[in-house]
Amino acid sequence: MALTVTPTKATLGAVVTDLTLSRMDESTWRAVERAFLDHAVLIFPGQHLTEPEQVAFARRFGEIELLAADPEQKAVAISNVKPDGTIMGASEHRYKTLRGNEGWHTDSSYMPLAAKASCLSAQVVASAGGETEWADMRAAYDALDDALRRRIAGLSAHHSLYHSQAKIGHVVETGAGYGYHAKGAPLRPLVKVHPVTGRPALFIGRHAYGIPGLEEAESEQLLSDLVDFACRPPRTYAHAWRPGDLVIWDNRCVLHRARPYDYREARAMRHTRVAGDPATELAPTDPDERARAYEPSASNR
Ligand SMILES: [Fe+2]
Repeated sequence: MALTVTPTKATLGAVVTDLTLSRMDESTWRAVERAFLDHAVLIFPGQHLTEPEQVAFARRFGEIELLAADPEQKAVAISNVKPDGTIMGASEHRYKTLRGNEGWHTDSSYMPLAAKASCLSAQVVASAGGETEWADMRAAYDALDDALRRRIAGLSAHHSLYHSQAKIGHVVETGAGYGYHAKGAPLRPLVKVHPVTGRPALFIGRHAYGIPGLEEAESEQLLSDLVDFACRPPRTYAHAWRPGDLVIWDNRCVLHRARPYDYREARAMRHTRVAGDPATELAPTDPDERARAYEPSASNR
């Protein structure tokens, strides 16, 4: 039976049904890959993949970006439940990282090699809230007026997780976790041409700051105005999770954010990140004043 791809009412996103992700034949996979390029966010309800099955699905899109110290660990928990089963408190480092995810962003833009795609599945969901929301940066670019398009053409911004966390009052030491590195802040153009579809898209979000050639305040204002404009209907779509749902999205042309929920309730998600292609997602870095040192490297490890 052929899979069914049902686009959302937004400019991005489609719900994909009538397939079993853990047992896809070649023609089904090609249809999934085509839908990924067309819709940028694919929602697969009720797949209930095991961790190895989720990793194998993500691996079809490319190399896995290793987020944990152990290179054998290809998926990580995104959860407010600690390994001992208790719920994180508001003062904990990991909790502040979770809250940071509530700002619009694209994954690993703060690493030398930005991510191609992100795959998220739900294990335990909160009774209300906790949606993931995406915004279409292709449609946002298309909707810009000519003057703004001309203004941002040729501009780039630095990206830093230190920067975005500091904005919510979370000051983090170098080496404290993934993203808090001394490789420098990547400098990425505000307009990214998609390496496969050729469509231009805004490449912005909470990690972006410090546009060279602009005063700091002017840079912050432009970046925040762009996000405000871009992340609005009909370019946004939010998914209310049920256990077993799996979503994959294209970080090269989509911003996403977590929506709040009652943090006293348990929520557990599993995340696998697909590494970018060095030919198109690797960026040069400049010193990041918030890091302890500057040791440039083209590797995320
Ligand atoms: Fe994220």
